[in-house]
Amino acid sequence: MLLEAPIYKEIFGALIIHEVQKVLKLDTETETVQSSVIQNIPREDIYKTLKELAIVVPLKNEKLQLLDGVLKAIPHKSPIIIVSGSDREAPNRYKLEMELVKHFYNLTRSRVVMVHQKDVGVAEAFKKLDYTEILDEDSNVRSGKGEGMIIGTMLAKAIGAKYVGFVDADNYIPGSVNEYVKDYAAGFLMSDSEYTMVRLSWRHKPKVSKRGLYFRKWGRVSEITNRFLNLLMAEQTGFETNIIVTGNAGEHAMSIKLADLMEFSTGYSIEPHQWTYLLEKVSLEGEHTNSFKDALEQGIEIFQIETLNPHIHEEKGQEHIKEMVKMSLATIYHSPLCTKSLRERIIRDMKLHRVIEDEKELEAPRVMPPIGNIDVQKWMQIVKKKSDTLLILEP
Ligand code: GDD
Repeated sequence: MLLEAPIYKEIFGALIIHEVQKVLKLDTETETVQSSVIQNIPREDIYKTLKELAIVVPLKNEKLQLLDGVLKAIPHKSPIIIVSGSDREAPNRYKLEMELVKHFYNLTRSRVVMVHQKDVGVAEAFKKLDYTEILDEDSNVRSGKGEGMIIGTMLAKAIGAKYVGFVDADNYIPGSVNEYVKDYAAGFLMSDSEYTMVRLSWRHKPKVSKRGLYFRKWGRVSEITNRFLNLLMAEQTGFETNIIVTGNAGEHAMSIKLADLMEFSTGYSIEPHQWTYLLEKVSLEGEHTNSFKDALEQGIEIFQIETLNPHIHEEKGQEHIKEMVKMSLATIYHSPLCTKSLRERIIRDMKLHRVIEDEKELEAPRVMPPIGNIDVQKWMQIVKKKSDTLLILEP
């Protein structure tokens, strides 16, 4: 793959944020590229990395045709982990999803692990290992994409993955999914640190209009979230920046070493929270950062890659968008790094765009602690023993 080389970066404490890098050519071999502004990540290296990269697909009541396309597009070497929160009462969508996955496995022999988010064994394993923040008052795993991502990351650890990447199930373009996974691998290969995150930005997010397809550059939510995340940084450094372009990147990947340190927040605050959390961690000192010692020494690298493919996913309406903006900005608003003047600016903006009427509506998102201390082998043993939905398919 040819990419713009990571030339410009901003350093914020131990956080190394690389400017967005465009994909210039999807597929290349090992060959010398005579340019200091272009980086070649050979196909051979990408393929070696793919088998260490587990792809988690969080899924809730999506069209089966879309899930089918996504599964078929994930490169064969990457293990697939599906965490479904779909309905199990009639019509039992989970059952239909399982049938689809078994059929997919019979055709392709791709390695797949699948589990339902409300699996009794999963809940029991979290309870026994004292990670109760993911459970509701009835000791079931709560609904939510973030909770699904935690289960997926635990499964990725259990099967020995070195990296974990996330791909939404509601993607209309299978070819784009294939690229996303390779972009993740390219990001890991560019990093000098074991603590790495790769976040994707879209060249275009097309919308269907009366005049045909319109290739929009940015989603509205991302534009707002990025602006305020950049301001959050500027308030600390005194230098305005536009380095962050992936505030809401649902499609992202992390080294397991970094995933072990990350907090997960619920709902649509999950991706912006990754930014505020890391910005906070590298700004603090003392006991707050003990678990981060090695990461702070090595540096945490964040790559932002602009994909070649456009992103076309299921549209879920205006209220959904409002909720995403609200949750994203609530994360920034409640960050200890957020100054009084930035808080006032957020409120002004949110009221102006009629996202909220009152400041109190910006509730602090619920945050789940890092999973790094959970004994993953014990967790998996309990899941295997008690599960009522676990499906492990491997050749
Ligand atoms: N397991 C599980 N449990 N999966 C879920 C749940 C849940 O409770 N809720 C949603 N999902 C799955 C969906 O099926 C889909 O595959 C993915 O998570 C994304 O959820 P959506 O609700 O469709 O989000 P979106 O497409 O509007 O937003 C996406 O892009 C945003 C950035 O533009 C998501 O990736 C957001 O997290 C992201 O911020």
